[in-house]
Amino acid sequence: MSKQANQNPASDTFPEATPEVIAHSEQLRQKIQESIHNNKGKISFSDYMNQVLYTPGLGYYSAGLKKFGRQGDFVTAPEISPLFSQCLALQCIELMQQTRQRTLLEAGAGSGIMAIEIILELERRKQLPECYLILELSAELRDRQQQAIKAKLPHLFELFHWLDQLPEKPFSGIILANELLDAMPVHLVKLTNDNHYERHVALNKNNEFIWQDELVENPQLIDKLNEIQQLQQSLSSFSFDQGQNKDKPDYITEINCLADDWIRTIADILDVGAILLIDYGYTAKEYYHPQRSMGTLMCHYQHHRHDDPFYLPGMQDITAHVNFSSIAQAAHHAGLKVFGYTTQAHFLMAGGLVELTKDLDPEDIIPFTETARQIKMLTLPEEMGELFKVLLLAKHKTLSLSAFKLQDFRQRL
Ligand SMILES: C[S@@+](CC[C@H](N)C(=O)[O-])C[C@H]1O[C@@H](n2cnc3c(N)ncnc32)[C@H](O)[C@@H]1O
Repeated sequence: MSKQANQNPASDTFPEATPEVIAHSEQLRQKIQESIHNNKGKISFSDYMNQVLYTPGLGYYSAGLKKFGRQGDFVTAPEISPLFSQCLALQCIELMQQTRQRTLLEAGAGSGIMAIEIILELERRKQLPECYLILELSAELRDRQQQAIKAKLPHLFELFHWLDQLPEKPFSGIILANELLDAMPVHLVKLTNDNHYERHVALNKNNEFIWQDELVENPQLIDKLNEIQQLQQSLSSFSFDQGQNKDKPDYITEINCLADDWIRTIADILDVGAILLIDYGYTAKEYYHPQRSMGTLMCHYQHHRHDDPFYLPGMQDITAHVNFSSIAQAAHHAGLKVFGYTTQAHFLMAGGLVELTKDLDPEDIIPFTETARQIKMLTLPEEMGELFKVLLLAKHKTLSLSAFKLQDFRQRL
């Protein structure tokens, strides 16, 4: 299946792209087409996703699009409510005290709103860190973060420093990342009755993107596929063994090697400190459940979700859920210990939401209802409460955060 840049992937209600949007996307499309030609006619989906999201000046995260918030394509927790970042600030205080480190590092800071709200809360509590580092791949977002922080925190701007790669070894501090791992390019694999394929992107005779499936050759993917197969065999009678149930449907899923590599690098550079990761995702058993046969890859365009990554390259977000078991396993093998895994709802409820909202006056109807709306979005199971998880990793003998005291699901990883 292929899609032209301006063909809507879904229903009649899908927003029409303007001529400017189509022209911008067309520039990136041509670049990707060139790279396909230069690469013997195909690139891996991971390479495609990387180009679509991060090509300087043209990629989704690297061009000047609105992206976050109501006028963008999707909303993240810190954009929904300052309470999210304030709860994180309270956990940072506990982490700074227990690790005796006063450097915070946020990876993938988006609009910069989480950094601003965390620092405001720490300032209110007289617990400012020595510095707040922001690791951001996108030069455009770095610029936007600097403008936002200068406007909101002019007196504390000196605290902030930007990095375009992880710091040199040894680094000590607290690392935070909200919705970072889901924005990392993934490999797509397709398992059929007979074989395992890696999905590539090629061009048809009209120069449109099409799928091209090739037998898996990448050793990292082969290892992961073996793990997935074993897992699925243990989960049910469903199996990809040749000869069994010839009518099984194809199974498409994602493997995020970059996320595992990122954790290994963190483990390598981290001397003393902890890592708090928040993202939407599952344990491996849930992620690779036989019934999830179409994977979790998702595209967001102006708050419409769909599953066509070839639509308007560079103008829509493409993301995949996070396999937290894989992250925890990579962390463990690299010398980090898992100190907590819970849902966003449990994390916020135990991590300060109650204290932070105790003075709200129900008589003050407008702020009260607005805050109630925000809390519902952050915590209700059908909103972000259950799908989003929080993972705490550290190089430390003991560590205990109040946010994991209500529920800790580590045993499920
Ligand atoms: C989905 S956005 C989330 C933004 C923000 N954390 C929030 O919650 O609103 C992903 C962010 O991660 C950044 N990013 C992606 N890969 C990265 C990497 N390897 N290192 C640092 N930043 C990265 C993107 O540029 C973007 O700022």
